[in-house]
Amino acid sequence: VPIVVMASGAGSLLAAILERGAAPSSPFEVVAVVVDRSCAAEQIGRDAGIPVVSCKLADHPDREAWDRRLLAEVSGFAPQWVVTAGFMKILGPAFLAAYSGRVVNSHPALLPAFPGVHGVADALAYGVKVTGTTVHLVDGGVDTGPILAQGTVPVLPDDTVESLHERIKSTERDLLPDVVEAVVTRGVVTDGRKAHIP
Ligand code: GRF
Repeated sequence: VPIVVMASGAGSLLAAILERGAAPSSPFEVVAVVVDRSCAAEQIGRDAGIPVVSCKLADHPDREAWDRRLLAEVSGFAPQWVVTAGFMKILGPAFLAAYSGRVVNSHPALLPAFPGVHGVADALAYGVKVTGTTVHLVDGGVDTGPILAQGTVPVLPDDTVESLHERIKSTERDLLPDVVEAVVTRGVVTDGRKAHIP
């Protein structure tokens, strides 16, 4: 099953998905990597010999044009599923209409707690003792789509944002590829805002 992965950062989750997808028995194959900026994820995709598409907002007259270009680029690879792995943009209406229910995101907190780009820092600042990661379907909101899976991660007294985020990422590196394998083979059943993998 062809999938496209979208990233904007260090690309450690992209690397984990690529590694899992490269296994001969893997039910999915990463057919392209899409980035919205120059980032380490770009080089990880290239090193894996996979087409890397850069779709930068700054290269477009407005957000709607960017959203349409992103859809055109991704559609060209005909993916069954799209995975956003540290992709720091909100997908627009044109993209989500075409890929509704088929975009999977990983967020480094236990949604609905601590959504948004500072979820790790917000959890640390709040003083929670347990945080984690949420793998969910992407809808038009910020980290608001139906939840597919979650994993818990302890917060340690001397944690910094970096040490906590690294611990969360080590959980994500297993959970996200597991969920991708599950959804490409078994699909997702949604009931309102609830989702489960049969
Ligand atoms: C992950 O923690 C993901 O949950 C968040 O961004 C981070 C991406 O890390 N959305 P990387 O760029 O894959 O290393």
